[in-house]
Amino acid sequence: MKLLIINGPNLNLLGKREPEIYGSLTFEQYFDELKIKYPIIDLEYFQSNIEGELINKLHEVGFLYDGIILNAGAYTHTSIAIADAIAAIKTPVIEVHISNVHAREEFRHHSYLSKNCAGIIVGFGIDGYRLAVESFLKA
Ligand code: DQA
Repeated sequence: MKLLIINGPNLNLLGKREPEIYGSLTFEQYFDELKIKYPIIDLEYFQSNIEGELINKLHEVGFLYDGIILNAGAYTHTSIAIADAIAAIKTPVIEVHISNVHAREEFRHHSYLSKNCAGIIVGFGIDGYRLAVESFLKA
């Protein structure tokens, strides 16, 4: 099974960025733990702060991989282009948010992406990515 985790803008700063909201682990540390936990999965990671690069990556893997786990960061709340990319590809996408976006500012309550995603995992901290992996394993 081939899965790709895609993180969007500012998620390269996990561990340093608002740790009271996003935790104190870097994504690289967490990703290493995930790879050890799931040796049978071919698990890859991509991060970009640039909307077009996220779209290019979705196009690149979206007809080849078994699943995509996407935290598009703030683009979740703004990007019709990423929503269209998810609709255009064949690989199922699970949307993940580390924080409970519904308990935060109003502008974080709406996602352009959700309706094109296979599922949504919100508010379970960084463990949300593992929950998404589990869901692909059981599918
Ligand atoms: C986030 C929530 C978004 O609203 C925010 O812009 C992020 C991170 C989360 O993982 O909780 O960058 O997607």
